Amino acid sequence: MGTVHAGRHAAPIQPVDAGDFGDARALIQLVHDRCGISLGEHKRELIGARLGKRLHRLGLRTYAEYVRHVERDGTGEELTILIDAITTNHTSFFREPQHFTLLAERVLPELAARRTGPLTGWSAACSSGEEPYTIAVAALEAGYHQVRLLASDISTRVLAKARQGVYPLERVEGLPRDLLKRHFEKGLGAQEGLARVAAPVRQMVEFRALNLLEITSLNRSFDFIFCRNVMIYFDKSTQQRVVAMLERHLSPGGYLFIAHSESLNGVRHGLQWVAPAVYRRRV
Ligand SMILES: C[S@@+](CC[C@H](N)C(=O)[O-])C[C@H]1O[C@@H](n2cnc3c(N)ncnc32)[C@H](O)[C@@H]1O
Repeated sequence: MGTVHAGRHAAPIQPVDAGDFGDARALIQLVHDRCGISLGEHKRELIGARLGKRLHRLGLRTYAEYVRHVERDGTGEELTILIDAITTNHTSFFREPQHFTLLAERVLPELAARRTGPLTGWSAACSSGEEPYTIAVAALEAGYHQVRLLASDISTRVLAKARQGVYPLERVEGLPRDLLKRHFEKGLGAQEGLARVAAPVRQMVEFRALNLLEITSLNRSFDFIFCRNVMIYFDKSTQQRVVAMLERHLSPGGYLFIAHSESLNGVRHGLQWVAPAVYRRRV
């Protein structure tokens, strides 16, 4: 590749190939410190592929410059862009469906029998909202209308989508028809091809931007917490920190749902195993 000269007397600017942004260690450290995600040196190519465009757009030539850019940004927006680039926000309605069956058939009846007020749940890495809305739909379908949910994620970009509750039709097409009829509205005209989560479901969920690593106390506890498909990015010591924090936020007898691909092996905790990827705090 040739050399580009910027002006007659300016120093030559060496074009940078995508992925060739110098030492990535400071960036890997930053991602680990701020969001617990372990990238490892072997992910250099992936980082280059995912962040290359962003660096080019910002006119930055090295990861070191980008790290300074993220650190200087007091709004936290660049950190969100960085996290969005290196993690996946992949999610879907009724993902890992066994959890919602267990919720409807065991968890909610058991919790409701022990207490009067609304039941409370937390979807702790909710991405674009499919998980908390599924919890709300499952609760309504099982006859539990008094359920209040907190749904949080580190990424403000996915949270904006989640709050809207509007999805391409193909994201909901696999759901049973009667359930679709009861809890979704089909878009017309300019909204053709889209489905919106119905208001009674949306009203059960409060969305908030939260970094799992920065939470010490939310000053409330939950009857159940879903924290699925996020701990997979964390190393053991970060998992340990996050699980301890989640455990502190469970009411006695409350349930923790993690993903089937995740494990609490090697993590110290006082929870009882209930079913695959489901744990319960002792009463
Ligand atoms: C793969 S999605 C999981 C969505 C949903 N829980 C599910 O299982 O389908 C992982 C989400 O974790 C979020 N995330 C990553 N690091 C986080 C952190 N430190 N705190 C909170 N959320 C985080 C990402 O922004 C992403 O939306």
